[in-house]
Amino acid sequence: MEPAAPPKTFRVKSFGCQMNVYDGERMAELLAERGIVPAPEGEDADLVVLNTCHIREKAAEKVYSDIGRLAATGRRSGKTPLIAVAGCVAQAEGEEIMRRAPAVSIVVGPQAYHRLPDMLDTAVSGKRAADTDMPAIAKFDALPQRRKRGASAFLTVQEGCDKFCTYCVVPYTRGAEISRPFAHLITEAHTLVEAGAKEITLLGQNVNAWRGEDHKGRATGLAGLIHALAAIDGLARIRYTTSHPNDMEDSLIAAHGEVAKLMPYLHLPVQSGSDRVLKAMNRQHSAESYVRIIERFRAVRPDLALSGDFIVGFPGETEADFEDTLRIVDEVRYAHAFSFKYSPRPGTPAASMDGQIDPEVMHDRLQRLQARLGQHQFAFNRDSVGQTCEILIDRLGRDPGQWLGKSPWLQSVWLDQEHGHNHALGDLVEVRLADAGPNSLRGERTQVLFD
Ligand code: SAH
Ligand code: SF4
Ligand code: F3S
Repeated sequence: MEPAAPPKTFRVKSFGCQMNVYDGERMAELLAERGIVPAPEGEDADLVVLNTCHIREKAAEKVYSDIGRLAATGRRSGKTPLIAVAGCVAQAEGEEIMRRAPAVSIVVGPQAYHRLPDMLDTAVSGKRAADTDMPAIAKFDALPQRRKRGASAFLTVQEGCDKFCTYCVVPYTRGAEISRPFAHLITEAHTLVEAGAKEITLLGQNVNAWRGEDHKGRATGLAGLIHALAAIDGLARIRYTTSHPNDMEDSLIAAHGEVAKLMPYLHLPVQSGSDRVLKAMNRQHSAESYVRIIERFRAVRPDLALSGDFIVGFPGETEADFEDTLRIVDEVRYAHAFSFKYSPRPGTPAASMDGQIDPEVMHDRLQRLQARLGQHQFAFNRDSVGQTCEILIDRLGRDPGQWLGKSPWLQSVWLDQEHGHNHALGDLVEVRLADAGPNSLRGERTQVLFD
């Protein structure tokens, strides 16, 4: 490669889960430390970081089309940006990216991106740089202080996965489960709150597998961390995602009845309602044991909004298996959910299983599942009408004076001009939920509680 001018501006594009978004923010902070600034909206950046996701085929393919597009625009303008590929595709296919895409200067895995500034120096000198090591804790220690501003912030507390569900790439792209130390998390949370965060969402591939020692040296799980965070003045809301049924501790369930700042929302994927499919997926729980956990949550927090992830068309899934999934959806009555067609991922056991499902059958099942999930989501929203709650304003609406925010149950709520004046991003506003749609609600302001 030719030596390049040191980049002055950057853009980070994140394609994956919330942890991938968090990583993107941290990479942006690292670059800002170096004096490189975000490229203004609509302008080409000198450095583009593609922060990729490998979870499904469609997500992974995006990286090559993006690289192609960047290289073509560069050829037209005479100025190709430095391209860095980060994230889970970098981890899984680093060498292939280097081979297939000569326009790429840097390949950096999700556990090695603290080294991005050094790699940038290498790239500027005209050499390509790749790093897909997995020193997870070293990464966090080497990152600069948080600069992020905004009402709602992500905080990665746990990374990696030891579960090895047979369809999933995460254990390979993110490595083994690790927990960040308690004291580091409390410090990062304080920094975020001082910068204006009213809400913190604790992140982990299996967030409820987080384990640590509190400031008195006592062993504690996620509930202990949540109790400690709840003591931070100015922090109004705590959320956490994604949980795994097999890591659920009594103390976390109990925390939902004890900690007012802990929002009544739980994202607990089940993937399928059929025990036969769950076994083939290596989930190591049954449909029944999953439903029992939810009942225990609802006993301490009856208004809890449930969310889940579903895969249709896993190898060998029969119509009867799929109907079991519809049945569990009806039993749990999810307020929100994500559902996907099974996507065979290279190197995972399920990719070579017998009984791969016809794409048309998958398509049909996904339609039916999404219709059913949509009915429950709408019903949950309708049942919320008449409630008074706080919303955290996180977006400006389309019309002047219109604001959008999130209810405690993570519903999108909009305030119209009449009710929405005098607000700012990050305000907590008390509203009465007045009307419900399938994807959002309309709120009427009662009073401003928190400016
Ligand atoms: N750790 C989380 C999920 C991380 S991946 C958990 O276990 O719940 C997010 C979601 O992507 C998964 O819950 C699953 O529903 C989906 N997913 C993962 N691998 C997939 C694949 N190969 N095909 C389709 N969906 C997949
Ligand atoms: Fe993937 Fe399963 Fe781990 Fe979730 S628990 S990240 S689905 S292997
Ligand atoms: Fe995607 Fe990696 Fe997250 S594969 S879903 S970005 S952990």
